[in-house]
Amino acid sequence: MSYKIHDFFKKSSFVSGEEIAKKLQISRVAVHKQIQKLRSQGYIIEGIRGRGYRLIPRSDGLLPLELKARLETNILGREIITLETVDSTQNFIRELAEKGAPEGTLVIALEQEAGRGRMGRKWFSPEGGLWFSILLRPPFLPKEIYKLTLLFGVAIAISLKNYGLKPSLKWPNDVLINQKKVCGILLESSLEADRVDYVIVGIGLNANFPITSLPEEIRTNSTSLYEVLNRKIDRAELLCKILKNSEYLYLNAIKEGFLPIISIWKSLSSMLGKMVEVKLLKESIRGIAIDIDEDGSLVLNENGKLKKIYSGDIQLI
Ligand code: BTN
Repeated sequence: MSYKIHDFFKKSSFVSGEEIAKKLQISRVAVHKQIQKLRSQGYIIEGIRGRGYRLIPRSDGLLPLELKARLETNILGREIITLETVDSTQNFIRELAEKGAPEGTLVIALEQEAGRGRMGRKWFSPEGGLWFSILLRPPFLPKEIYKLTLLFGVAIAISLKNYGLKPSLKWPNDVLINQKKVCGILLESSLEADRVDYVIVGIGLNANFPITSLPEEIRTNSTSLYEVLNRKIDRAELLCKILKNSEYLYLNAIKEGFLPIISIWKSLSSMLGKMVEVKLLKESIRGIAIDIDEDGSLVLNENGKLKKIYSGDIQLI
């Protein structure tokens, strides 16, 4: 059998550097270099003099090879990088995108030190969450990419239904459980006049941690899967489901447009037909959220006048 370095870290028992060197037919220095490379990919490998190396399975199945074995996609997750910590997966993947990384590249972090939310907000990303960014190079016009937020919201909500949950969607980018935010989506892009260079879809899902891991000021409006299910879930399994559902909807949107997605989105919405307040950059407006338009905007009835909203924060009143 011809061995690869990963073969020695499928279980978490110790393996000596000497044994690895012998089986791979390389020097001990080369073994050390390969271990360093694995560590840079997110593998947490302990090295103890006299005993050798062993994998610390803190990563919960989120390492590239483990995920690849379970993924049922062709595009999303084509390249996977798992990091133990990073400032933000958005920043990390942007650098890869600028260097020409392929569509479907996925960057996961076990923790983020400076996670970013919409409108310049901080996104708290403690250990146990599902924090990842996906690189897309979609064949859409720049004005259409906005609707990708709705697409990913639908894919996440459908994936969460498998856990017996009843998620709902809040325009434009929140997934809620029991009216509390469990997941946020951040879309960042590089656009040219009439074409899209790339889009980065950042997804932050509060998974396996209690709500007390988040700062007090955001606890009232947030929840986590751990909080609602009372148990930890297999994050890798959930991630694979999300990627599979997203890819299916994405390929469909390329073929047939976004209308079917918008219609599913509406059926999952928690706000349509209700009185809401929308915080825009400089003002707030109130009205009934009556529809999501074909272009993805929110249609508000403000005292009989219809207004289309393209970005903002909405709240039930
Ligand atoms: C929001 O609701 O404001 C969007 C939150 C998006 C958070 C995710 S976590 C993974 C990726 N990296 C980041 O820094 N942000 C996104």
